[in-house]
Amino acid sequence: MPHREALPWQPYPHLTDSERVTRARSFRDAMASRRSCRMFSEDPVPRDVIEAALAAAGSAPSGANRQPWHFSVVSSIEAKCAIRVAAEEEERAFYNGRAGSEWLDALSPLGTGADKPFLEIAPWLIVVFAQRRGGPDPDNLKQNYYVTESVGIACGLLLATLHQAGVATLVHTPSPMRFLNRICRRPDHEKPAMVIVAGHPGEDATIPAHALEKKSLEQIASWL
Ligand SMILES: Cc1cc2nc3c(=O)[nH]c(=O)nc-3n(C[C@H](O)[C@H](O)[C@H](O)COP(=O)(O)O)c2cc1C
Repeated sequence: MPHREALPWQPYPHLTDSERVTRARSFRDAMASRRSCRMFSEDPVPRDVIEAALAAAGSAPSGANRQPWHFSVVSSIEAKCAIRVAAEEEERAFYNGRAGSEWLDALSPLGTGADKPFLEIAPWLIVVFAQRRGGPDPDNLKQNYYVTESVGIACGLLLATLHQAGVATLVHTPSPMRFLNRICRRPDHEKPAMVIVAGHPGEDATIPAHALEKKSLEQIASWL
């Protein structure tokens, strides 16, 4: 029998429309100040911050509420080092031709390369896995739905929470990244989606000017 109990709607805080606009703009401004960081310091970030961000991610909407994500949270130097070594091996092949010239041209304004010291320096690596199948019975896993979309939304909430907490982040996607299953000891039906690097910027941190070029509202939205 499906579980179909319905509870009363939990009201959101009462706001005037003017307060809604103010809040929306304030969050917009906060989010607009986020920038990907590629030079981190070793300064610690409390585990409580990471836990709160993961809980925010876990509250995300998901296809059929299957919550098709797993977050492997890495802080040990051994695991960070293993991830750096494996990622840099893949990245060397990627930047030496596997990516193809069009992709490399697209990346060139960012100034990225195969060396990823931040994978060892930043205090936290959150390795995000997308669960194509899931459920309570490991011997009878069920199909999940809209897995990529659901995981993307959860990661957005995670990034937003960390940014609100004053923590710098980078979405890192070494390609391919199957090695993450081995290092994080995750099963084959989970697909690594991204590594979210979290910490504080190093004194040498810079931002590629290209990252500041965002499309205007007119370019990204149409109104019907
Ligand atoms: C799915 C995804 C994958 C990304 N992969 C990488 C990556 O592997 N390495 C990297 O340096 N940046 C990566 N980025 C960060 C983008 O380069 C960055 O978001 C973009 O240049 C805009 O800059 P901003 O985040 O500062 O606005 C990735 C971002 C996304 C959303």
